[in-house]
Amino acid sequence: MMRGKFIVIEGIDGSGKTTQLQLLGDKLKARGVPVLHTREPGGTRVGETIREILLSPASSDLVPRAEALLYAAARAQHVAQVIRPALAAGQIVLCDRFLDSSLAYQGFGRGIDINLLERINEPATGGLVPDLTIVLKFCAEDGLDRINKSGRSFDRIERETRAFHAKVGDGYLVLAGRDPGRYSVIDANRPAEQVHQDVMTAAEGVLNEILTADSGA
Ligand code: TMP
Repeated sequence: MMRGKFIVIEGIDGSGKTTQLQLLGDKLKARGVPVLHTREPGGTRVGETIREILLSPASSDLVPRAEALLYAAARAQHVAQVIRPALAAGQIVLCDRFLDSSLAYQGFGRGIDINLLERINEPATGGLVPDLTIVLKFCAEDGLDRINKSGRSFDRIERETRAFHAKVGDGYLVLAGRDPGRYSVIDANRPAEQVHQDVMTAAEGVLNEILTADSGA
C-alpha cells in the first residue's frame, strides 16, 4: 500500500485554517480520497486533555518552557497514535497545526530558541515532516477581531497582546522562507472560496500521485 500524505495548515489565530481544512477535505472526499482530519494540540484523548491545560485561561502562570514541553508531549501522542498509523494506512492526513506552530508561537512569539524547540520536538515527531505546509498569511489584528466578532471567549493564547500575534505571523514567514519547496504561503485576506482555490493548487502537487494511482486502480 502507498504511504499517505501529510498536509498541514498553519497560521495565526483567526486566519481561517479550520474553514480551509474543511473545504479541502470535502473536495478530496468527493473524489474518493481517504481523508483524516485532525488537529494540534489534540487529536487524541490524552492530547485533548493537554489542550485543555494549555488553552485554559486558568493556566496563566504556565512558564514558556513548560508550555513548549506540553505542546511537544501532545504532539508525541498524536504522531504515535494517529498520524503515523493513518499515513501507513495510505490516508491523507489534514492537520490543523503541527511543529511550525511551536516554532512560531513558542519560538518567535515567546522568544525560546528555535534550535532548543527543534531538539525538544525531535522525540515527539521522530523526524516526521509534513509533505506540504500551507501558511495562511493574515493580519494579526484582523484575526483577533474576527474571533472577537464570533462571540466566543478568547483562550489563553488568544489573550496575548497583538504584538505577540504579529511576531507569530512574521515568524511563520521566516519559517516558510527557510524551505520554500515544502511551504506554500497563501494570502488569506480574501474571500474563503478564493483562498481555497490557492490551497487546492498548492495541494495538487502532493495529491496528484494519489489521485493518479486511484484512477489507475
Ligand atoms: P487552535 O487549535 O484553535 O488553533 O488553538 C491552538 C492554540 O495553541 C493557538 O493559539 C496556537 C497555539 N499553539 C502553540 O502555541 N504551539 C503549538 O505547538 C500549537 C500546536 C498550537
